[in-house]
Amino acid sequence: MNEWMATVNELKPTGSTSQNSRPKLSVIRNDCEKNIPKQELCRGCKGMGSCKQSPPGMIPVEIEEMGQKYEVLRMCKYERQRREQAKINRLFRDSQVPIIYSADSWNDYAVNNDNRAAVSIAQQIAKNSGRLPNRKSVLFYGRRGCGKTKLAAIITNELIKQGESVLFTSVPDLLAQIRRSYDVGNTQEVIKGAQNADILILDDLGTERMNAWVSEQLYLIVNARYNNDRTTLVTTNYGPEQLTDRLTVTNIQGKVIDEAPSERIMSRLYAMCKFVEIRGGDRRI
Ligand SMILES: Nc1ncnc2c1ncn2[C@@H]1O[C@H](COP(=O)(O)OP(=O)(O)OP(=O)(O)O)[C@@H](O)[C@H]1O
Ligand SMILES: [Mg+2]
Repeated sequence: MNEWMATVNELKPTGSTSQNSRPKLSVIRNDCEKNIPKQELCRGCKGMGSCKQSPPGMIPVEIEEMGQKYEVLRMCKYERQRREQAKINRLFRDSQVPIIYSADSWNDYAVNNDNRAAVSIAQQIAKNSGRLPNRKSVLFYGRRGCGKTKLAAIITNELIKQGESVLFTSVPDLLAQIRRSYDVGNTQEVIKGAQNADILILDDLGTERMNAWVSEQLYLIVNARYNNDRTTLVTTNYGPEQLTDRLTVTNIQGKVIDEAPSERIMSRLYAMCKFVEIRGGDRRI
């Protein structure tokens, strides 16, 4: 169906017809100019604020199909723009990008020799639904304050502007939300939200001390995303080897309890992500 046409339910015959002779919308052309007097209301229109049509933003057009005339509603360009913008606003609202980075774009990210390669990769994936040509996404690692979260937020903002649905969450926040969910009673909803988001940004992986519970939650999310081939972008303070240690389940004294969950999570992260370093010191100082 052409995106600007009304749904089949909105079709109404302008002459006698039978149920069987409904037109195929795919053959409808945008030829409203010569059609219906109500289109005169659109003349000189300056946008949705001054729309005279009812419902607003929909232009009645007449079409002919198999000898039968029908009146259908065509979405005007202003309504189309309004809906696209509303979708983007909704996506931004749902994405949970940190407020300080919510308006950032490439112009806000200073490029230097420490981050040039990472920025180039970030720009590639921002143009390609969060993936590199080999279909991997990216895990950005680097020291505290080097610009990982800001870069991930800019990628998110750019993807959302293209209409992608992205859930940005910091791992500590996500785990806190899962803990809270036991009281609220929506644990499945929270976990499924992270498992099923089209594109998920896991910011700050490895900051939590790993106990069996934390490890299990992370595994549930990472494994589901891996199995369903969903785009997952990660940031962490730890390089590959350190991250393996950080994800290892230990007791309060730091004694290793179980290495297997860490290896399972890491093996999936390697499969899903190219590991990319952002060098440089702490820009907060
Ligand atoms: N390339 C950059 N250009 C301009 N400002 C930057 C850049 N990189 C980082 N910053 C600024 O430095 C500060 C830290 O950035 P960010 O939060 O992205 O660091 P991080 O690597 O995520 O740190 P952490 O490891 O503590 O989470 C922020 O104020 C951010 O705006
Ligand atoms: Mg950060």
